[in-house]
Amino acid sequence: MKTLLGIESSCDECSAAVVRYGPERLDVLSVSTFSQIRIHRPYGGVVPEIASRNHLETVNHMIEQALKSAGFSSAEAVDAIAVTNRPGLVGALLVGVSAAKALAYAHEKPLIPVHHLEGHAASVFLDRVDRSDLLFPLLLAIVSGGHSNLYCVPGPPELWPPDFLNRSLVGRSRDDAAGEAFDKTAKLLGFPYPGGKEIDETAQKGNPKAFEFPRALPQKATLDFSFSGLKTAVALTAEKLKTAGILEKNIPDLCASIQEAIVDALLIKIGLAAKIHGCRSLAVVGGVAANSRLRGRLSAEWEKIGFESPPIFPQLKYCTDNAAMIAGAGAFRLAQGKFLRGKELLTLNAIANPET
Ligand code: KG4
Ligand code: ZN
Repeated sequence: MKTLLGIESSCDECSAAVVRYGPERLDVLSVSTFSQIRIHRPYGGVVPEIASRNHLETVNHMIEQALKSAGFSSAEAVDAIAVTNRPGLVGALLVGVSAAKALAYAHEKPLIPVHHLEGHAASVFLDRVDRSDLLFPLLLAIVSGGHSNLYCVPGPPELWPPDFLNRSLVGRSRDDAAGEAFDKTAKLLGFPYPGGKEIDETAQKGNPKAFEFPRALPQKATLDFSFSGLKTAVALTAEKLKTAGILEKNIPDLCASIQEAIVDALLIKIGLAAKIHGCRSLAVVGGVAANSRLRGRLSAEWEKIGFESPPIFPQLKYCTDNAAMIAGAGAFRLAQGKFLRGKELLTLNAIANPET
């Protein structure tokens, strides 16, 4: 068994976590996360400079708290340290990377740089006692505020090569990510940033068939998404309703109809990808994997789509950004002997937009 400390600071969540990894087990011992959402809310989005300053003020506290909750008095007690070093806001990433480098060098621990999306992929395995419903090739959907990517994953995480994300990508968004589609349409309706959760909650009281919004590229044999048409359609509809003085009373129906359009678009491409690539099961991760309608529809329709087992979603707390998933992805790399040590680890840098 190996114990890892993970650190995540790529955007607006400052998080540290401790996981324990053994044969087919990845147990989360602790997670400490400070979400900056409320700090950025007045600006309608994440302000990079404010994000990095806040990470700087919070990161040591998150690390101390995560170690303490796991029963450790310092980083000396863990076997390795994993940190998100790409992609993300470069100033925000640098805070986590610098903290991880300092700890790894001082305590002479291996340091594992983690791609943020590999972290989301690893969230599938956190606290999972049974992997028997994960059938390969697995269709992995990473649906977050920054990405709507579909991957055809050939085997278990212990065998993922360093560039497996690049190699297994089969579909992506051509414009906004699914989370951005939620956030931007939510903004048009007057909800505070980020808005995805509010649309989900308000949609419970609305009719998903009340408004007919476009489904992204449904007729085409492409696995790519496009959500810009939806945003324009919602803007025009909201404007019309506002002029007529009936926007407010239509908000629940608008939310339900927007959510249905996004969920439909995801389901159409998930079904097409499964068919084209012969994927046997499905895992959905990232912030949008918390959406109740997406979970409900996939849980009801997986057999019709052609999967052999029900869809896999991480626990809600592991859908949005957290350091447990980073520590988890780091554990798989550590087992493969892929880490930095000694003076070499001091060369690690933060990368905003990596090629890989
Ligand atoms: O994975 P995440 O925390 O950050 C990125 O790596 O981007 O995802 C954040 C995104 C936001 O766009 C947020 O609105 C969306 O996830 N989100 C939701 C829900 N909860 C979070 N979208 C729809 N329904 C939800 N319940
Ligand atoms: Zn994320």
